[in-house]
Amino acid sequence: MGKVIVVASGKGGTGKTTVCAGVAAAFAKENKRVLLIDCDSGMRGVDMMFGISDRLVYDISDIISGGCENRDAFYKASADFELYCVAAPLYADDEVSPSLLKELIERIKDDFDYILIDSPAGTGSGFVTAAYAADTALVVINAEPISIRGCQNIRKRLETMSVKDVRLVINRFEKERFCKMGLYEDLDEVIDEAGLRLIALIPEDVRVTALCQRGELLNNWSQASLIFSAVTKRIEGVDVPVIAKV
Ligand SMILES: Nc1ncnc2c1ncn2[C@@H]1O[C@H](COP(=O)(O)OP(=O)(O)OP(=O)(O)O)[C@@H](O)[C@H]1O
Ligand SMILES: [Mg+2]
Repeated sequence: MGKVIVVASGKGGTGKTTVCAGVAAAFAKENKRVLLIDCDSGMRGVDMMFGISDRLVYDISDIISGGCENRDAFYKASADFELYCVAAPLYADDEVSPSLLKELIERIKDDFDYILIDSPAGTGSGFVTAAYAADTALVVINAEPISIRGCQNIRKRLETMSVKDVRLVINRFEKERFCKMGLYEDLDEVIDEAGLRLIALIPEDVRVTALCQRGELLNNWSQASLIFSAVTKRIEGVDVPVIAKV
């Protein structure tokens, strides 16, 4: 049965979509069957990262409303890999209900090894929809107080849901900036405040952005793309170093 992973954060712009797309691509490159559902209604972005925007006709709201078959809205990102993307609705008003998305996911779970869900920022209704069917969550933060507070809010919300395994991703980390800010003694303090087990420490690196924005996640095997492979290994319980070097 497939694992359902939501990627969330309290604060916007921490790198959720980047991490979600990167991890989905890394699983696909390991020959896993992967479905990536964009739940950021009104702000869809995953389609651009996988170059499927021009082909898009249907989105997740069309599946839920019965306006199309599942297969019509599952867009294969590449001929070489079993990675399928479902777009978020173009307009926020078309956000889907948590229970209906969960029903859909329960029906299709066995067809995939991993289902990744990109959540909008915050703990509002879009987040609830994205997280409702998940068994695992990756909470993405930047090593700053507001971002960490957002993580604490998300953590509390997830505790009331059926998400059993909640892990921390510290993204866009720059050691020099972190030290100059002088807000924390060390990264352990950040992790303690966030209150979650660390699964990845991803450096600030323009090559990570370039990979995603150029739609190269599936055909690039550089160090930047290997960062996401390390995350997949750790999700699968393999003991690989958390600290990534680009
Ligand atoms: N490790 C990184 N190094 C450099 N740039 C990054 C990194 N991770 C993400 N970015 C950049 O940060 C910006 C925000 O990333 P992204 O869109 O993934 O965040 P988000 O959390 O999904 O935002 P939103 O809350 O708006 O959905 C993008 O320009 C992205 O390319
Ligand atoms: Mg996003």
